[in-house]
Amino acid sequence: MLIRKPSDIPSSAITPKEQYLNRRRFLRNVASGAVAVGAAALGADRLTQVFSPKVAAFAGTKLQTVQSPLTTTGEQLTSYEDVTHYNNFYEFGVQKSDPAQNAGGLPTRPWTVHVEGHVKKAKTFDIDALLKLRPLEERVYRHRCVEAWSMVIPWVGYSLSEFINQCEPLSGAKYVQFLSYYNSGVQRWASQTTIDWPYSEGLRMDEAMNPLTLLTFGLYGEVLPNQNGAPIRIVVPWKYGFKSAKSIVRVRFVDRQPSTTWNEMASNEYGFYSNVNPNVDHPRWSQKVERRIGLPFWQQRRATLMFNGYGDQVASLYTGMDLRKDF
Ligand code: MTE
Repeated sequence: MLIRKPSDIPSSAITPKEQYLNRRRFLRNVASGAVAVGAAALGADRLTQVFSPKVAAFAGTKLQTVQSPLTTTGEQLTSYEDVTHYNNFYEFGVQKSDPAQNAGGLPTRPWTVHVEGHVKKAKTFDIDALLKLRPLEERVYRHRCVEAWSMVIPWVGYSLSEFINQCEPLSGAKYVQFLSYYNSGVQRWASQTTIDWPYSEGLRMDEAMNPLTLLTFGLYGEVLPNQNGAPIRIVVPWKYGFKSAKSIVRVRFVDRQPSTTWNEMASNEYGFYSNVNPNVDHPRWSQKVERRIGLPFWQQRRATLMFNGYGDQVASLYTGMDLRKDF
């Protein structure tokens, strides 16, 4: 973001999709084998406990998912190693490798999400109740950072709209704001920046209600690693990655465009909308091309797609707007 342009990282081998799917099949088989053995040993009622979301508090815990019609297909997944070791999470340091090293102390249980503002009644949701609210879907999305690098990630979650419906917003709710966890004791690296914490992001209500906007609990079939925003984050695949607030503890329904972290830091560089747009350059670099992390260097450069390739689903949200002005 403001701090530096991306530097080249040594990237590990990509997980080919087939290999990943085989790994998932293998894990499922192992899991169902364990279920069969476990069922005999424990009795069926214990099984639900073994696989209850409570257990999902621990890093590496598998999540049961269903395939989603909203998944993006045909592109090679970025390896788990790169997805979890090349991160932006400035509360844990400004280098890409810092979050993986420093986020271990993030306390992901107990965890609640408080909902307030223009809603019928303020409410607090427990993370384990949220995990059970809807079947978890695996959705492969392109992930495009404003720094002109990109990845392809198999996220796990369900549409944010499902959660918003539970929040019962009132007609005055025009925008939704997401606030991340902030504790200067746990996140002492945060003071290396001039950011006014907690991290804040926001969406217009129709953007938040678009089925593509994902309330995200996991990736690669497992709970989110801390560095990727455990235990709950947003993923908005047609926007630059900074719109996707991590480790959310507060959701506010508001009547005005909320103030957001990067827009506050430098409004000429980071607009509120921040739709991926190859025709609007960042003041310090072009957005026409991107570098796909993890590929051999001669395959990394590729043209950036309008709305990150999700135009069919989202372009209508911006009809009549000047996307050069409302970038
Ligand atoms: N959320 C919080 N709380 N803090 C952050 O620094 N960085 C944003 C976004 N969400 C950030 C955040 C940016 S700049 C990007 S590109 C994405 O998270 C990175 O997500 P990833 O590390 O899972 O790829």
